[in-house]
Amino acid sequence: MTQKHRTIPADADSARALAETGLRLAVVSPDDDADLDNWIRADFRGFLGEHPKPEVLAESRGYFRDNRNTAVYDDAIPSAEAPVGTLGAWADPLTVPGGARVDAWAISSVTVAPTHRRRGIARALLTGELRTANALGLPLAILTVSESVIYGRWGFGPATFASEWRVDTKRVSWGGAETTGRLSFTEPEAYRETGRAVLDRVMAGRAGEIGLSRYHADRLIGPLKGSVDADKYRLVRYDSPAGEPEGFVSYVVKDTADFVKHTVEVVHLAAATDAALTALWRYLIDLDLVSEVHVSTRGVDEPLPFLVSDVRGAAVAGIEDHLWLRILDVPAALTARTYERDGELVLDITDKLGFASGRYRLSVDDGVARVTPTDDAPDVTLPVASLGSVYLGHDAARGLAVAGRIAGDANALDRLFRTAVPPRLSTWF
Ligand SMILES: CC(C)(COP(=O)(O)OP(=O)(O)OC[C@H]1O[C@@H](n2cnc3c(N)ncnc32)[C@H](O)[C@@H]1OP(=O)(O)O)[C@@H](O)C(=O)NCCC(=O)NCCS
Repeated sequence: MTQKHRTIPADADSARALAETGLRLAVVSPDDDADLDNWIRADFRGFLGEHPKPEVLAESRGYFRDNRNTAVYDDAIPSAEAPVGTLGAWADPLTVPGGARVDAWAISSVTVAPTHRRRGIARALLTGELRTANALGLPLAILTVSESVIYGRWGFGPATFASEWRVDTKRVSWGGAETTGRLSFTEPEAYRETGRAVLDRVMAGRAGEIGLSRYHADRLIGPLKGSVDADKYRLVRYDSPAGEPEGFVSYVVKDTADFVKHTVEVVHLAAATDAALTALWRYLIDLDLVSEVHVSTRGVDEPLPFLVSDVRGAAVAGIEDHLWLRILDVPAALTARTYERDGELVLDITDKLGFASGRYRLSVDDGVARVTPTDDAPDVTLPVASLGSVYLGHDAARGLAVAGRIAGDANALDRLFRTAVPPRLSTWF
């Protein structure tokens, strides 16, 4: 993870637009603890969190100063409450089909104070970030969202979907093959380095996963200061028969009135191999005094139904859009990934913000793409958000065509872009 982008100045067009409404756009200095604390307070408030205690601020500062943190100030109000808008961003390697890791502008902590909502602050922040990412030459921008109705207007499309499961462990028993390797309890502090390495292997191994910052990795391994139920976290590591660390599960056990029917809330399940995945799932399913295991942000292809004795005992509790992706540079994005079939298509891409507009011939030979501008008639016409939705290999083309958001030969687009293993993002950022 690079820190070189942390102090790039705020976008001039957005600063001008906000100044016209009496607001000031600025990038927070990573070395200014007071400004950083105010930014963090505003971020927590935006996501309806608690007032962060001094130890929480100190820990968060240590993590957040790695990012480029943008704030919107209303200088008419006292300084501690001053940021009325926040946004954090950093260049993050996104794994794309074929295994390349492409630097994408990761956007997070988008908040606007309820006192200043719907005056165009988010619009100024987001369009400014896209211009910044484009100027840096980054081909993609990515985010995860609290509400799915916000970011489509700026050219983001849902590119991975996540599944949530409730496993009735009184009803099911293990139905998979024999598991191997060693499971053992460990403590977050002892496991941090190893856990980060395991996570990096997981994230590199699947399209849609991102490179985790220290902050994002650490909160999956163990609780951060101020986490709910911090005293209840448990961490179990998986090591292969050869002693290689290949996975872990962090979780919290929730109390219930009936002592034999606890619920396990999985914080994170990381598995770099199928052996790790099955051993960790078996561990969760076999837990005594537990009647339900609840887990979210798994892929849409989670093999759980095939790992239990009774398929209906492992129920999908929901499937939700998860990673949203915005293509900024079409040739760079399309040539960064590989393709599982060869073919050729002329794509006409529309983009209200202009970054990705154009007509391109995509020629795939031996899985490798060439992209050239063309004036030929298009096979497929689509807005940039729809291209974002199919880019990582998800099977969205048909649905988007039915919805009128892809015109032309959507099946040909699907054949070229879809991957046998669907993309997944297994965390929030
Ligand atoms: C979501 C949030 C950042 C929007 O900020 P804002 O400054 O009020 O948004 P803007 O005034 O710039 O609105 C821009 C556009 O988005 C729309 N919009 C903004 N928030 C929306 C929402 N929650 N639902 C639907 N539309 C929304 C606006 O109507 C406007 O539409 P337009 O294209 O017709 O102009 C703000 O409400 C917030 O902080 N919410 C709580 C934290 C959160 O959910 N953040 C998002 C994290 S992913």
